[in-house]
Amino acid sequence: MPVPNMRVLFCFTILLVAGLAADPSLIEKGKAEERRACVGCHGLQIIHVQRLSRAVWDRELTKMVNWGAQIREREALLEYLATSFSEDKPPAELRLSAEGTARK
Ligand code: HEC
Repeated sequence: MPVPNMRVLFCFTILLVAGLAADPSLIEKGKAEERRACVGCHGLQIIHVQRLSRAVWDRELTKMVNWGAQIREREALLEYLATSFSEDKPPAELRLSAEGTARK
């Protein structure tokens, strides 16, 4: 069996690693899309306290679209949400609502 060319092997490894790592420009695009498409009906906090898998984020987007959200950059938005608010992230700090603060 021929010995694999080391240069080819090296390039392949680089491409593989680059492909697996989250693309920062796609994440930025998704973040911008969130600010454009997701704040019409509620704030960002209800989104950012979630800890969901990619599949559940995908369903969440469909749920919002069915309620009238207009998403133009779905792939970027999903990438941003699935990497930033995934199940392996520590729980988000919960802030009291106005009513909650009033009870103190
Ligand atoms: C047309 C109005 C509307 C838009 C636009 C909208 N949402 Fe929502 N969203 C809602 C309502 C209403 C609720 C809370 C009601 C409920 O789920 O009981 C909600 C709740 C949520 C929740 C909490 C979990 C849940 O399902 O209740 C998440 C997460 C969420 N939205 C994400 C998003 C994202 C991401 C976007 C941007 C694509 C978005 N929303 C845009 C109406 C909207």
